[in-house]
Amino acid sequence: MKSLKDANVKGKKVLVRCDFNVPISDGQIDDSYRIDQAVPTIQYLRKEGAKIILISHLGRPKGKDKSCSLKIIADYLDKKIGNVKFYKDCIGGGVEKEIEKMLTGDILLLENLRFYSEEEANDQKFSKSLASLADVFVQEGFSVCHREHASVVGVASLLPSYPGFLLENEIKVLTRGLAKPKRPLVSIVGGVKLETKVKLVRNLLEKSDYVLVGGKIANTILTIRGICVRDNWTKEEASLLDVAQSIDLTSPKLHLPVDGVMALKNLDQKYMRIGGVGTLRKEEDIFDIGPETIEKYKAIIKEAGTIIWNGPMGYSEVSVFEKGTNEIMDAVAKNKGFAIVGGGETVEAIFKAKMESKFEHISTAGGAMLDFISGDLLPGIKILG
Ligand code: 3PG
Repeated sequence: MKSLKDANVKGKKVLVRCDFNVPISDGQIDDSYRIDQAVPTIQYLRKEGAKIILISHLGRPKGKDKSCSLKIIADYLDKKIGNVKFYKDCIGGGVEKEIEKMLTGDILLLENLRFYSEEEANDQKFSKSLASLADVFVQEGFSVCHREHASVVGVASLLPSYPGFLLENEIKVLTRGLAKPKRPLVSIVGGVKLETKVKLVRNLLEKSDYVLVGGKIANTILTIRGICVRDNWTKEEASLLDVAQSIDLTSPKLHLPVDGVMALKNLDQKYMRIGGVGTLRKEEDIFDIGPETIEKYKAIIKEAGTIIWNGPMGYSEVSVFEKGTNEIMDAVAKNKGFAIVGGGETVEAIFKAKMESKFEHISTAGGAMLDFISGDLLPGIKILG
């Protein structure tokens, strides 16, 4: 793969696709990890004398929605690295005029790409308008590379294109974890939606020595296997029966929780108990993995040569159900092998526990990491050649 260091960017207008899609609440950035990770590429371009035009999406707005404006990101970056301006649109005459005024080393962040539906539609005219703003394109948003959008594939097909350092590193690390892993390779998969992780689990079962499953997806598999018995399946579980057939649920590599933290479905926390997964009652749900499962998983993690972890073990946003995720986090951090972690909720839990310095690689991606590990060639990477 090409490297940004091979590009001549001096005095050139460089369009950098970042993923500044970060959680924001009450006008505050809750987690700046993705933004911070893009800074080395931005600083490199500045040092090399480029005019840096940053583009990104934020959220899933339907049209122009002020609550999804990237102004807050420009302010954050300006405080962090200085001389970062914001412009209220991402295409058109106003943007072009603003870019004409730029000097080498200047940084301009444009408004949310998704204010135009043409972005997600990978509209050719929109791609051309974006491409016309610059001489060189840099893809720095690994976490958006699974999307076939104008700013991901459209622009890259129109300009000389390079991966940014964040993207290059993500590809290198994830490939290292998957291609020639130090054995045993232990994969840990959690989270909510089995349908988004079926391909992942299937691929990991092929490549790993152990696949440890937690979170709601474990509950769904336990129900499908008839271990958790329910009178009424949720519609979601019923529809997953077919989907789950493509996973070898009898694989000896597949490890499911043996016990869990049960609470009432409506989450009345006055009622909570720990029990074997087969004892689940119809008014209950499992909200975390139980102590026996934690010990079993920890023993496997301790011996791992490589670990891939995506997805929390329980409903970790609620403190009484975060023990499973935190214990697994601790075990992964203590392991001396090579660990890759990713996925929005997993990363959130790591930062919440202030454990980020204990991990060798925390991916910036959620869905893109899943697709990458599932064996897909992401369109945003493929187009870079
Ligand atoms: C992400 O957060 O995974 C990326 O920014 C992609 O966002 P999307 O799922 O809204 O396309």
